[in-house]
Amino acid sequence: MIITIDGPAGSGKSTVARELAKALGIAFLDTGATYRAVTLAALRRNLDMTDEHALADLAAAVDLTLTPTDDGTRVTLDGDDVSRDIRTARVSEQSYYVARSGIIRAVLVTLQRRLGDALGSFVTEGRDQGSVVFPHATVKFYLDASPEIRARRRLADLAAAGEPADYDAVLAAITQRDTRDRTRPDGPLVKPDHAVVVDTSNQTIQQVTVTMLEHVRSLTR
Ligand code: C5P
Repeated sequence: MIITIDGPAGSGKSTVARELAKALGIAFLDTGATYRAVTLAALRRNLDMTDEHALADLAAAVDLTLTPTDDGTRVTLDGDDVSRDIRTARVSEQSYYVARSGIIRAVLVTLQRRLGDALGSFVTEGRDQGSVVFPHATVKFYLDASPEIRARRRLADLAAAGEPADYDAVLAAITQRDTRDRTRPDGPLVKPDHAVVVDTSNQTIQQVTVTMLEHVRSLTR
């Protein structure tokens, strides 16, 4: 069983994907972590972030592992645990250069499919999972929420990670990421055909998970 969850930053995808995977007893794949890890690797090497070919070579060369844990995913980059380092605001912002490139996306899409094959049944989340990476998924979801609510969520995440930020700056960053995610030519954020749309603005994670779980069960019963 392959379940895809796509949606903009802060729509609740990661948490819901983890909860759904747990409830179904299957694995969870965080594809944003692959873009983040390559971004971090490039920043650590002081690469020119506008040099698409250098970034693509790096994406193909790094040794990246994603291991499910109780509360998320343990990510290693060339053997180094970067699970926390890939979540900084700087990596979020700079990941744009990695995500916008068709040649880098091709490398990461291949990696994501290989990770998926190894997992068997899984819930995957990102921007292009139902549209590009796993078009034959069993069930596809598209999660959304208003930009203001997503900014409040991001603010809380950053504060919890010890990176307090300003609401207006976070909202502006979210709006900019939305535009960038939706307008890139390769793997843009889209609602996949036949995807079930869930607006998470005024629902708790538990409510969203229950709705999605019922949907999966009704389709696979
Ligand atoms: O979801 P998350 O915020 O971790 O994504 C990190 C970066 O990777 C974002 O810039 C997003 O646009 C990009 N991304 C992507 N395709 C995916 C998952 C994430 O382009 N499938």
